[in-house]
Amino acid sequence: MEIQLWREILEPYGQAVDELVVKFNHIKQEYQNARMYSPIESVSGRVKSISSIMEKTQRKNVRIEELEDKIEDIAGIRIICQFVEDINTVVKIIRKRGDLEVKQEKDYITNSKPSGYRSYHIYGPKKLEVEIQIRTLAMNFWSTIEHSLQYKYKEHMPEELRKRLLSAADAVGVLDNEMASVRDEIMDAQNHNRQKANIIADIVRSIEELYYVANKREVEKIQDEFYKIYKQNDMTMLKRFNKQLDIIAETYRAQSLNARSYSVIQNH
Ligand code: GTP
Ligand code: MG
Repeated sequence: MEIQLWREILEPYGQAVDELVVKFNHIKQEYQNARMYSPIESVSGRVKSISSIMEKTQRKNVRIEELEDKIEDIAGIRIICQFVEDINTVVKIIRKRGDLEVKQEKDYITNSKPSGYRSYHIYGPKKLEVEIQIRTLAMNFWSTIEHSLQYKYKEHMPEELRKRLLSAADAVGVLDNEMASVRDEIMDAQNHNRQKANIIADIVRSIEELYYVANKREVEKIQDEFYKIYKQNDMTMLKRFNKQLDIIAETYRAQSLNARSYSVIQNH
């Protein structure tokens, strides 16, 4: 048999993983830039370790020479969502993208595996195939724990433990359903936090802008006022303050513009 240059075989998969993690983080970022809720909570990726690849080739009776053709998760991406319905959104985004080709999908959400495992898997075409797993935080919690137990017991998971994991998987299903039913409330809360963070960032930006153009004492007063309003924890007041600041900043901008055109005129 030809000598396996593992590093050489795996390097392009590492690159593919890095690229996809960047891509999905960008998608998440786009939502955040648009100040929208992102269906993607977090993204991670890994190249399968040599020992896992060898273990899998043995388990699946795959010859080492054909591992690139037969093992579909050498490159793996995991996308974690907050809610089950977000998974569907992410799947649609992936299907729609021109730069990603979907070869196969496995829906272990609608049909969970006998172990209780749930996730949505998407596979790209051969030659640098990538496996993308999409699941909720709760599903991820379950599979992380179950995976470490599988690791400990190998094929000999005690029956009692297997049953417990199955009932834990049911509980995960119940939890995700409960979360779906309070989703609107959660979304409201998240929206509120995002809005508040945006307003505060706006205010701080305006104060900084004023710092360079306005009277320092006045800016100091404005900042004190901001901290006072902040303590009152009232969004309406924060919003109003932000608007007022905008107007003040706008006035200064107009003034400096006038001053500039004045000096231009003078120079002529
Ligand atoms: P392997 O399970 O990796 O041998 O691949 P497969 O050909 O059986 O495909 P499958 O879709 O069943 O599994 C792909 C991946 O999903 C696995 O590598 C795991 O990351 C995950 N997975 C599948 N089943 C389980 C499970 O019962 N528990 C956990 N924790 N993860 C699972
Ligand atoms: Mg499997």
